Amino acid sequence: MSRAGLDVVGLFVDAGRRMYGEHVSQLEHALQCAMHARRDRAADEIVLAALLHDIGHLLEPTGDTPHHHHGIAAAQVLRAVAPSRVAWLVEHHVVAKRYLVTIDTRYRELLSPVSRTSLTLQGAELAVDEVAQLEAHAWFGDAVRLRRWDDAAKQPELVCEPLIAYRSLLETCLGPQRWVEKTGIDR
Ligand SMILES: [Fe+2]
Repeated sequence: MSRAGLDVVGLFVDAGRRMYGEHVSQLEHALQCAMHARRDRAADEIVLAALLHDIGHLLEPTGDTPHHHHGIAAAQVLRAVAPSRVAWLVEHHVVAKRYLVTIDTRYRELLSPVSRTSLTLQGAELAVDEVAQLEAHAWFGDAVRLRRWDDAAKQPELVCEPLIAYRSLLETCLGPQRWVEKTGIDR
């Protein structure tokens, strides 16, 4: 379905080279996350959510709080231009981290130092009713899978497909993109 449009390529060209404390750039992190989703044979909308899950950092580079974090900032934009499952998953990948910390005591130790710091800002453990509410959602399992891909997508030496490998998916869901040569986006 063609939508009103979101210039994802422009976002990644302008800000995707930015490092954010991890050993990969925002673009590398997005591409690794989407690659994990594709390798796990996730549905197209879930792959798209994996690719876009951190664009909130590019759209609005401010600090996270429990009630206004980068997932919410991205979802506010995506709800108008992307399938609803994409927007929901992008919004809830932050809550999924808090969920995993709550139900699995070992999970926190697997987080990168940056992710552990942001966890504190995002609100840390969920309350019992928040756990139940998340688990009851139809897309809960996808949010947890996305979170696991997110955590695995911080490997500096990992080679993965370029952004243009997602051209069909991006343009089907978000409208035509401005592909720019010689930026690393197109190869
Ligand atoms: Fe991420």
